[in-house]
Amino acid sequence: MKQGRKSPFLVPLFSEEGFAPGSEPTLFHAETHPCRENAWEGLDDLEVLREKVTLCRDCRLREGARGVVFGEGNPQAHVMLVGEGPGATEDEMGRPFVGKAGRFLDAMLRSAGFQRDSVFIANIVKCRPPENRLPLPDEVVACFPHLKAQIRIINPRVVVCLGALSAQTLVDPSIRVTRDRGRWWTKDSRKYLVTYHPAAVLRDENKKKPMLEDFQALRKVYIEMLSDEKEGRIPLLRET
Ligand code: URA
Repeated sequence: MKQGRKSPFLVPLFSEEGFAPGSEPTLFHAETHPCRENAWEGLDDLEVLREKVTLCRDCRLREGARGVVFGEGNPQAHVMLVGEGPGATEDEMGRPFVGKAGRFLDAMLRSAGFQRDSVFIANIVKCRPPENRLPLPDEVVACFPHLKAQIRIINPRVVVCLGALSAQTLVDPSIRVTRDRGRWWTKDSRKYLVTYHPAAVLRDENKKKPMLEDFQALRKVYIEMLSDEKEGRIPLLRET
């Protein structure tokens, strides 16, 4: 578990070391309940999805949150970044990554030549967990259809997993960010890059350089993808 975060469990459910023993089946409930996981199948309009998700009451998180933080950015982004869940500032503003960690993420994006509004930024859970705790597995499962639909509709080429919860939920529960950051996975013809959560880097200066390297790798892969396909659909990169 991330330092300084209180888990309501004696054994952390998610951690840098992977899942706590016995917790995997709970999370992967999402995978084994395809009807629920594909709740938004057939819905192809991101704004309609936003409206529907705003009404969601599928888990306890909505009760304690001001509102749903759906995510924001370019609806046709080639690059999507997925964090953990909204914090206090995000809950207040209704926007993802706008607090201290968000400013750091913006700087990381700029370092790689991306403007914030050229990518799409979302979270594993859309409502703020109380007292900044990690989302619980059943909350992740409840929220997963929303993220799955966002990814399907936006259809990014690359998903950047910010931190353990994101990587373990989207890619593989055995991922350890300390060991696996900087690695790429391919799933459903989409590339997934695992890197640190910005808040983890703010807590530990030593993680900054590796995270910068991960974003440089993202830039390189992105440029290669664009030049390979000669699409240039949207001028996502600015001159650096
Ligand atoms: N941390 C996250 O994981 N997401 C946010 O939106 C803000 C902080």
